[in-house]
Amino acid sequence: MDLSVKLCGISLASPFVLGSGPLGNTAQGLAACSTAGAGAVTTKTIYRRRSPVVSPCMIAQGARTMLNNEGGSDLEAEVWIKEELPKAKAMGASVVIANIGEYMEEDARLAQDLVDAGADMIEVGGYLEAEALVETAALVKKSVSVPVIAKVSPNWEGVTAVEAALRLLEEGLDGITAMDSVGVGMRFDLGTGRPLLGGKGHGYISGVGILPLSLKTVYEIAQRTDRDIVGMGGIASGLDAAAGGRRCLLRRMYLSDHVRAGGILPAQPGAGARAGEPGEPEPGGGAGPGPGCGDVRTPPAGSVPL
Ligand SMILES: Cc1cc2nc3c(=O)[nH]c(=O)nc-3n(C[C@H](O)[C@H](O)[C@H](O)COP(=O)(O)O)c2cc1C
Repeated sequence: MDLSVKLCGISLASPFVLGSGPLGNTAQGLAACSTAGAGAVTTKTIYRRRSPVVSPCMIAQGARTMLNNEGGSDLEAEVWIKEELPKAKAMGASVVIANIGEYMEEDARLAQDLVDAGADMIEVGGYLEAEALVETAALVKKSVSVPVIAKVSPNWEGVTAVEAALRLLEEGLDGITAMDSVGVGMRFDLGTGRPLLGGKGHGYISGVGILPLSLKTVYEIAQRTDRDIVGMGGIASGLDAAAGGRRCLLRRMYLSDHVRAGGILPAQPGAGARAGEPGEPEPGGGAGPGPGCGDVRTPPAGSVPL
């Protein structure tokens, strides 16, 4: 079955995108995920300096939900540029998205170097505050020839992920990744009374528990733009991904226009429309009860069954 799609104008062999995380910490991980079917793979967040490792940095929070307090990549940018990115391409990694978390006010050299080393796209994200993210993303967009997307967070104070996404799109970004993990949170060892996570003991929630929030975020952004959205957060199955509807992609996955199995989005979502405003179509399209978030209905003719 042909699952090929375009993401920001780049052809992907499949709509599945590996999000930034542990599997993107080495060339080998990027290549292995490509072999497993990812149409694009994202590196762990790259900083000029390697990030310290705390232990433990991940704990389970019930079934398929977790808490983590990982920082960025434990390889510094120079290693990515000189070794890991060229190696990833040589090992057959698909489209490689380099995720950067370095605040750049005037000089986007790091992004340019990552592109020269083989990155096909840049994702600005990491753990930047919203204002710094917008500034950095705008600078990177002006400085590199490849598509630039930015990853929004539900955790910023004073600005929502959707508001930040709109600012980023105004700056000319090619697309949005929505969204980062949710936090901060803690769990404790009831025996010792100490936090279960290492470091400061608090971390960010990801996995199935955050799916409703990521769906709502993607939905609201998609109501306002025709540019691509990489949906992320809580997708654990093809049906979860399908719940994003025809223009979204969820989690580390990108569902193209021609993939439609669920439908939180109207068939032709109007860019510029505001979710929830009187007179706007209900999710699912039109009058009367539409399918709810995650409902699955028969794909229309011509769409690709999941
Ligand atoms: C262990 C772990 C490490 C992560 N590291 C990064 C990172 O370095 N940079 C980043 O932008 N997001 C990072 N993320 C966030 C994910 O890319 C993703 O946005 C988030 O986990 C929500 O998706 P999920 O519910 O499918 O995991 C990390 C997530 C996890 C669980």
